[in-house]
Amino acid sequence: MFVGKVISFINQKGGVGKTTMSFNVAHALALNGKRVLAIDLDPQGNLTHLFKANPEYNIYHLMVNSVKELKPLHSVTHLSDVIVKGTVDILAGGQELSGFDLTVAAINSPRQLVLKRFIEQNNLKDRYDYIVMDCPPTLGLLVINALCASDGVIVPFRPDDFSSKGLDHFYSVLDDVEDMGIVTVPEVILHVPNLVDHRRKQEVEDLNKIVGKIEMSMGKDKISPVFYNKTPLVKSLAEKKSVFEFHNKEFKDLQNEFQTVAYKIEEWNS
Ligand SMILES: Nc1ncnc2c1ncn2[C@@H]1O[C@H](COP(=O)(O)OP(=O)(O)OP(=O)(O)O)[C@@H](O)[C@H]1O
Ligand SMILES: [Mg+2]
Repeated sequence: MFVGKVISFINQKGGVGKTTMSFNVAHALALNGKRVLAIDLDPQGNLTHLFKANPEYNIYHLMVNSVKELKPLHSVTHLSDVIVKGTVDILAGGQELSGFDLTVAAINSPRQLVLKRFIEQNNLKDRYDYIVMDCPPTLGLLVINALCASDGVIVPFRPDDFSSKGLDHFYSVLDDVEDMGIVTVPEVILHVPNLVDHRRKQEVEDLNKIVGKIEMSMGKDKISPVFYNKTPLVKSLAEKKSVFEFHNKEFKDLQNEFQTVAYKIEEWNS
């Protein structure tokens, strides 16, 4: 029986905190005793850098290797050579991922299901309690693969007047995935308002509007407490450490906030 859950951090907008959140929430889950694998699906490889991982091959090569039809492109690498073990294990991303669409353009098997099948072929849901995926800022084929492979999604966003339209666009893509009729669409577990500056009146107004809209359409429990713009978080990222590696007082709030997201995931999964 599959017990593990795949959870993607998604927003087609750049710089909203997908990587920051996936990194720290993955560590929060691990701290709670869960077996966690992080997958970096972004050609930018930001999550990979945070994990200080630098393997020769990455998730792109593993996905290509998992498609029989792409045999001429297969590389001599195995999952065990690519996974970097740690408190949270990591499957690195890399710039090769930007060629993914083109690589799978002509295959006969469903292009949207490459990642899902890779996860199944390797029994990753048996080996891990949570597989946390960091997505690139697009709604292209890689992210469609992430959606098709995911059980749940978390949507970090920055409150501004564009984010509401962006969220609507994301839901319409979720509907499109449902309409394909080949997978069960992932559930939206949580929206996370991030990088909020409470001194800016317009931002607080925009945030209240978006929160109201989400609460109306999806319910109050689909939105997490706000993450403010926090200097200690920037410091931890610069040092490539999760907030849980710091023991001074200034990190306490951040640790609690990321734990809140982790608890929401556990609650959703119970
Ligand atoms: N709550 C926060 N407080 C302060 N800085 C933050 C916070 N969240 C994220 N940042 C900073 O904002 C920047 C963007 O964050 P991040 O890289 O996680 O976003 P992203 O959505 O993954 O971006 P991309 O779409 O480019 O992958 C980073 O420099 C990060 O350090
Ligand atoms: Mg990112």
